[in-house]
This record gives sequence, structure tokens and C-alpha cells, in this order.
Amino acid sequence: MKQITTQVAIIGAGPAGLLLSHLLAQRGVESIVIESRSRAYCEDRVRAGLLEQGSVDLLGRIGCADRLHREGLVHDGTWLRFGGQSHHFNFTELVGKHVTIYGQQEIVKDLIAARIERGGAIEFEVSGVSIHDIDGAHPSVRYRDSAGGEHEIRASYIGGCDGFHGIARGMIPGIVATEHAYPFAWLGILAKAPPLREELVYAHTDDGFALFTMRSPSVARHYLQVPVDESSDDWSDAAIWAELRRRLGDDDTGPPLVDGVIMKKEVTPMRSFVAAPMQHGRLFLAGDAAHIVPPTGAKGMNLALGDAALLSTAIVEAEAGDDTLLAQYSELALDRVWKAERFSYWMTTLMHVQPDSTPFIVQMQLAEMRYLCASDAPAMAFAENYTGLPYAIPLDRIMPVPAHV
Ligand code: APR
Ligand code: PHB
Repeated sequence: MKQITTQVAIIGAGPAGLLLSHLLAQRGVESIVIESRSRAYCEDRVRAGLLEQGSVDLLGRIGCADRLHREGLVHDGTWLRFGGQSHHFNFTELVGKHVTIYGQQEIVKDLIAARIERGGAIEFEVSGVSIHDIDGAHPSVRYRDSAGGEHEIRASYIGGCDGFHGIARGMIPGIVATEHAYPFAWLGILAKAPPLREELVYAHTDDGFALFTMRSPSVARHYLQVPVDESSDDWSDAAIWAELRRRLGDDDTGPPLVDGVIMKKEVTPMRSFVAAPMQHGRLFLAGDAAHIVPPTGAKGMNLALGDAALLSTAIVEAEAGDDTLLAQYSELALDRVWKAERFSYWMTTLMHVQPDSTPFIVQMQLAEMRYLCASDAPAMAFAENYTGLPYAIPLDRIMPVPAHV
């Protein structure tokens, strides 16, 4: 077995693991990332696409936001549609912040390319990953490379950034999961078609929720609420466009919905899941490895990036002799995670038709949305959460010097 020593062994090359490796590298801490999938698979996986302002700032600080600034679509606000009418929220006016549309796989591409260009170690297509000795000062990760060679990484810390189906969470003794399953799913499409509006439209209708979003000025990403057990095979392309149009109704706030070729379609289950604690000994979880949110409000990737920011700072400070932040990692990360869980739950239950919905529940949803539109206080709370709550520590502590790389 080949042995190699580094400071941090990172499992998973998703947004959490990749950002962690970059932030550590720029503050002089060495790491190795191992990933079970191929580079092409990681770069092509279509996932979320909306970045909080804090996420954009983080990517800027590590010098990985050039393409994001060129191609990302800055949105100052969003539309909420209910009772057949559309209402606009201007986040910039409400809280002085905006969001940016840029696909998760584009971020993954940018982060992998920059890591490799800067001489960072990322090993793809590994298998048989196992974690050892997290209670001691010298934990290790073992794996097989794509040619079958056995390796051991000896490190001071392990970053469990291996997503919801990874192995790291299972290594934390006494970890407790708190979860909630929603009684509906999303059918998502990626289509060669113009987006409906310049900004997103969240639509509450008697027939269920619909979301009109995008990846670029020529690629639309739309979603429909569907029953939990739905298969995307049950939906022809024509049926999807017809249902999107039906749920949008007669919206006279802009041009009508334009169909296009559907390139991808898939059904996403909706659940909330939080595992605690996010640390044990020398093992630290970040991102989907520890928590899942329903996609409404697009918090998943932003939470993963936020965890990586906090964890990198905690490790950098611990390596410099102060492990106060590292000891608090789980507590501080979970505080922000639970607030995002609350927001995602609120937005999800506000906008979907519950299978057992009663006229009373529908009136509660409509009254809450009318209240949101009529008063600045709830509108500001919506905007504050949507554009991203602050991190536990300031950006200058996470990445003090703007990168010139
Ligand atoms: N060994 C190595 N890599 C692994 C292992 C393993 N045993 N198990 C899983 N992985 C890899 C996966 O292949 C994946 O590339 O870990 C990576 C985890 O990445 P993500 O799932 O993207 O998780 P994360 O970085 O936390 O980002 C969360 O992804 O699911 C979306 O909505 C979610 O946007 C959020 C983001
Ligand atoms: C997306 O663009 O995929 C997206 C945007 C906003 C959401 C959810 C998904 O609330």
C-alpha cells in the first residue's frame, strides 16, 4: 500500500470538497481530494444554479469567479405568482443584496480546473474508500485508485465532503438524523428555450407549484410539482410544456412561455435532513454529507460552500495553534444550516399544494403571500433569507487577502 502524508484528506469533489481544498491551499494548508466519480461525471451533473451573494464573494476571494462574473446572471429580485397575479420583490431595494444564476456544474468545472492548474491533488475514480483512526491525532483514509493500486493518506484532519450517499457520516458515533419528507416531488427540465422572464417566477396554483428559472439567456430550467412516486417517463415533452403553461395561467407581466427542446428531465424527491453533530475527533462533515434541503429557495449548494468556508478557517486557525473555532465547528455550522432548513421548509410549505390540503390551508398560504407582498417587514425577511444569511464569521477572517492568482 502506497502511503502519503498531507494536512487534510478531503473525500468528495463536489462544491464543498473543492472549495475547502482551495481555501486551505490559499492559506498555506495542504490537502488531497479523492472522488469516486470521473471528472467528466462531476462536471456534467446538472444540479442547483442559484448563488447567494456570500457564495459569489467566496469564489471571488479564491480567484475562481472570472467566468462566473462574465456568464452568471445577476438577479436583483424575483417574482411570486399566486391567485392568478404576479408580484415582484426587489432584493436590492429591500436588503441591498442580490443573487446570481450560475449552474453548480459550472462552479465544479471552474474549481477543478483551477485546482489542477495550481498544482492541487485531485484523484478521480477511486473506490473502496475507508476512514480510520479519527479519535487519534493521525487519522487516515484508504482507497483504491482507478488502476487498482492501494493507497493510504495520512492526515491531521479529514473533510467528509462526500455528499448524501457518502460514507463519512456513518463514521460519527452517536450521530442523530432529524428529517422530514414532503408529500410531493419536482419534475425538472433543462431546455433549449429562452427563460420565461429575466428573473425567476415562483408560481402557486390550484394544480400545484411551478418554478420558471434558467441557466443562461438561451437555456431554461423549469420545475413542476408532481406526486412523490412520479416517473419522468410518464411525462411527454408536450405534456410538460402544456402543464407549465397551464400553471402559469394568463400572465400579462411579460411575453408568453416559449417551448424548446428538452435536453434533460428528472424527478427530484423533496426532503429536509440534518445530521448532528457534524464532527467527531478529526473527522468533519461539510455539505450534503450532513444535511439536505428541499430545492425550493436553492439553499443546498450555498450551505455546502458556507460549511467549507467555516471549516477551512477552523482548520487554518487550528494549524496555527488556536483550535477554538474547530471545537465549535459543528455548533456554528448547524446554527446556519437550521436557519436555512427553516427557510426552505417555509417556502416549500407556502407554495405547494399538499395532497391532504384543506380550503383552510390554501387560505393560509394565500393570506401569507398577500401579507408578504403588502408589507416591507415580511418582504425584507424573505429577501434577507433568500439572498443568504450571514456566515458565523466575517469574510475577512475566512479569506483575508483577495486572491491575485
Ligand atoms: N469516496 C469519494 N467520493 C465520494 C464518495 C466516496 N466514498 N461518496 C461520494 N463521493 C463524492 C460524490 O461522487 C460527489 O461528487 O462526493 C461528492 C459530493 O458532492 P455533492 O453531492 O455535490 O455534495 P456537496 O459538495 O456537499 O454539495 C452539495 O450538491 O446535491 C447538491 O443540492 C446539493 O447543491 C448541493 C450540493
Ligand atoms: C434552479 O435554478 O435550479 C433553482 C433556482 C431557484 C430555486 C430552485 C432551483 O428556488
